[in-house]
Amino acid sequence: MVGVDAFTDYYDPSLKRRNLAVALSHPEFRLLELDLGVDDLAALPEAAVVFHQAAQPGVRASWGRQFEAYTRHNVLATQRLLERYRGARLERFVYASSSSVYGDAERYPTDEGCCRGRSRRTGSPSSPASTSPCSTAATSVCR
Ligand SMILES: NC(=O)c1ccc[n+]([C@@H]2O[C@H](COP(=O)([O-])OP(=O)(O)OC[C@H]3O[C@@H](n4cnc5c(N)ncnc54)[C@H](O)[C@@H]3O)[C@@H](O)[C@H]2O)c1
Repeated sequence: MVGVDAFTDYYDPSLKRRNLAVALSHPEFRLLELDLGVDDLAALPEAAVVFHQAAQPGVRASWGRQFEAYTRHNVLATQRLLERYRGARLERFVYASSSSVYGDAERYPTDEGCCRGRSRRTGSPSSPASTSPCSTAATSVCR
């Protein structure tokens, strides 16, 4: 298993490293420190399953000057990861979305099918975070 992380400073990166301690002690785990939005992804190995949870999370910080970070870590990183594995023999690409994609939906819980074809039960995105992997834009790239 190969883990990938850029250790962004959205919160204390030392916490992220501490969370990885157990995985790093496993002989079959390897860590690649890569920024999926910028770095050359040729270093990523062939894989059967890609479990994509890298993101700039949070809703409030996605407004204003932080928007660039959201588009890079979420939309661009997702698109580049998909490109890396386009044509590869992947069994599965698992992608973490968010309730942000539903925006101000008319009612909750909102079922996953609601975004297809923009049914009337789906509201407008309520923050720029809705454009993150998490997000309407990145979800569209995955589809
Ligand atoms: N925590 C929540 O409440 C919540 C809610 C909805 C969706 N999500 C989604 O779940 C997933 C995991 O969230 P989390 O709460 O574990 O967040 P997290 O911040 O703990 O983990 C995300 C990791 O991605 C890494 N990362 C960010 N940009 C990167 C990049 N360009 N390249 C490589 N690594 C990068 C960060 O350093 C971080 O370690 C995300 O996709 C997030 O959007 C989380």
